[in-house]
Amino acid sequence: MAGPTSTAGRAQWSSKAAFILAATGSAVGLGNLWRFPTEAGNNGGGAFVMLYVLCVVLIALPLLLAESLIGRHGQKSTIGSAVQLARQSRASPAWSLMAVIGLIANTAILTFYCVVAGWVVYFIGVSGADLVGAASAGEPLRGAFAERSTDQIREIMPTLFADPALLVGLQLAFVATTVWIVARGVKGGIEKAATWLMPAFFLLLIGITVYAALTGDFAAAATFLFTPDFERALNPAVLSSALGQAFFSLSLGGGAMIAYGAYASRDTNLGQTSGVIAFADTGVAIIAGLAIFPIVFSVGLSPDAGPTLMFQTLPAAFHVMPGGALVGLAFFVLAFFAALTSSVSLLEISVGWITEKFGASRVMASVGVGVLVFLVGLLSALSFNLLADQRPIPFVPGFENANWFDAIDGVTGRLLLPLSGLITAVFIGWVADRKLVDAETGLSGAGLAAWRFLIAWLCPLAVTAILVLGLFPQIL
Ligand code: PHE
Repeated sequence: MAGPTSTAGRAQWSSKAAFILAATGSAVGLGNLWRFPTEAGNNGGGAFVMLYVLCVVLIALPLLLAESLIGRHGQKSTIGSAVQLARQSRASPAWSLMAVIGLIANTAILTFYCVVAGWVVYFIGVSGADLVGAASAGEPLRGAFAERSTDQIREIMPTLFADPALLVGLQLAFVATTVWIVARGVKGGIEKAATWLMPAFFLLLIGITVYAALTGDFAAAATFLFTPDFERALNPAVLSSALGQAFFSLSLGGGAMIAYGAYASRDTNLGQTSGVIAFADTGVAIIAGLAIFPIVFSVGLSPDAGPTLMFQTLPAAFHVMPGGALVGLAFFVLAFFAALTSSVSLLEISVGWITEKFGASRVMASVGVGVLVFLVGLLSALSFNLLADQRPIPFVPGFENANWFDAIDGVTGRLLLPLSGLITAVFIGWVADRKLVDAETGLSGAGLAAWRFLIAWLCPLAVTAILVLGLFPQIL
């Protein structure tokens, strides 16, 4: 990968690296660290992981190429780029519906994403205080939370959940940080964060995984994650969760990858970059799973503990790890940046469109959407305390018992993102100008034929089937 060349004192990336960095920064985030282990744990492990990998390779990867080429071709906002490709293909601009759905879904995702990122911020505070305590005791390299028992460490999350004002404050802090970066313009800041912090994060995560593997119950974790369970794989809920996770984790569904595709220069081979991004993202998710599940089994937590899983397991590992106080703080700081490079891409989708369409300034648009995201996000932040008993969509199959947080997460991930992807697959596979599209892919020969088959046939059919099964599970 090319390094930054300095022109007039400002680091400039070759545009080839810019797209990979920004897109990988968008893809790798809480989806890998927090959502993947949660979903894998909720859906029985092996069956889910097997389906997830299949969904990434056969559905998400072809769509990643489709979305990034729409952006690179259009060089506009997500909706603007989709309209442009439709027009140039003499098709109805209504095909940009996929980007409209994407904009709504991604903005809705941002509402709860900032809540979870707020939990990360909390752990930065708790770990930071712990490290200061360790250092002032003259033992900066001791394990984390030396003065707490394992049970007390697991209680950190429930204690946080019992404090709505603190939860909302943390959420607000993260929304504000995201708004601040997007208001200043995404490109420079994100590239910098992605260039240095992401590799650092990756190395640290591998280190933690090795430690977890050596000290936790690695055999139980590997069995849980990698034993295929074909019977369970046919369960519609597991199928639709796996598909939703593939979309969520790769930032697909008519949003970020179109927006960031516009960063890709003409000489970027989008077929190749799509492969690199999907591989890196999936790798980080599996490694995160291998860091978390050995601890789940060794501390006796249930794999289906839900959204707090990551926050109840990793601190327990930092507790016994030599230097854990330091490693714990480093982990949460880097996780914060991983979340930020994703949240910025989520906000950029609507901000890019509003500035383009209405000529609003970036600052106005970012702050405006930020306020909305914060207010709607209150529903998710308060789902763990004040609003815990509310069931907003009991009439949707599979969501009878979902609180606001689960409802917004589930409806966006399992329904809206795949729906947008379905429209994209039909649009790119059947409607858009074939020559123009093929030239954008950077593929040729068998690779192009395979992609064509996947995008035109497999994606639409498989996504439709999974969507229908998810909504009407009684069919099976
Ligand atoms: N992919 C990001 C993550 O894994 C989340 C995201 C979803 C970002 C959709 C942009 C669009 O954390």
